[in-house]
Amino acid sequence: MEYVAIVPAAGSGRRMGASKNKLLLSIFGKPLFIYSLQVFEEDPLCKGIVLVVNEKDRREMEEALRLYRIKKVQALVRGGKERQHSVYEGLKAVKEASAVVIHDGARPFVERKQIEDLLSAVEKHEAAVLAVPVKDTVKRAEGGFILETLERSSLWMIQTPQAFTYPLILEAHRKAERDGFLGTDDASLVERMGKKVALVPGNYDNIKITTAEDLYFSEAIVKKRKL
Ligand code: C5P
Repeated sequence: MEYVAIVPAAGSGRRMGASKNKLLLSIFGKPLFIYSLQVFEEDPLCKGIVLVVNEKDRREMEEALRLYRIKKVQALVRGGKERQHSVYEGLKAVKEASAVVIHDGARPFVERKQIEDLLSAVEKHEAAVLAVPVKDTVKRAEGGFILETLERSSLWMIQTPQAFTYPLILEAHRKAERDGFLGTDDASLVERMGKKVALVPGNYDNIKITTAEDLYFSEAIVKKRKL
């Protein structure tokens, strides 16, 4: 199934403690967001990439796209206040697509096989996300004390990419905006429309770069995969 990739990259380096957008930090000399784009650049089913950026990063990102020969970027769209707003801006910039794959610029290590698995699930179910089982025990807490222990066997950590038929995810974002709903991922906007979202087993090394120690894990993954 052919698709357009939407890559939100308009965040900051706040939780990283970095003075600039964490996606412009380098691993072995290559900016993080370039790793995230290369999988789409090399996938023949990807017909274009919409990259969502901060105005202040635009020049540096454009230069990196040229340097690393990322040619599929159709548009560099200006991001919004929260991730959800940035994705919505990206979706509105898509000219034509039957399916979209939404992938955080902050997850540099997703592999082609996982994208293929997601798209197979979208053909059947219209909406699908990558997920891995929770490894730790998860509890709900308030004011420093535990309220309850959640049943681990039904808990999943949800990653990106998340893939959808284009009309469905566009409608989900429109509705969320109308209702003033803010979710932490795109699937939650589809869930609240009463639609089922398929879980596709992913890999633990599809990490999201959030805090400083994630950069050490990233170096290990780049070395192991010889990226
Ligand atoms: O901050 P966090 O890593 O959870 O953000 C997830 C992704 O969303 C990142 O790739 C980040 O660049 C992007 N983002 C965005 N616009 C925002 C906030 C985050 O594109 N306003």
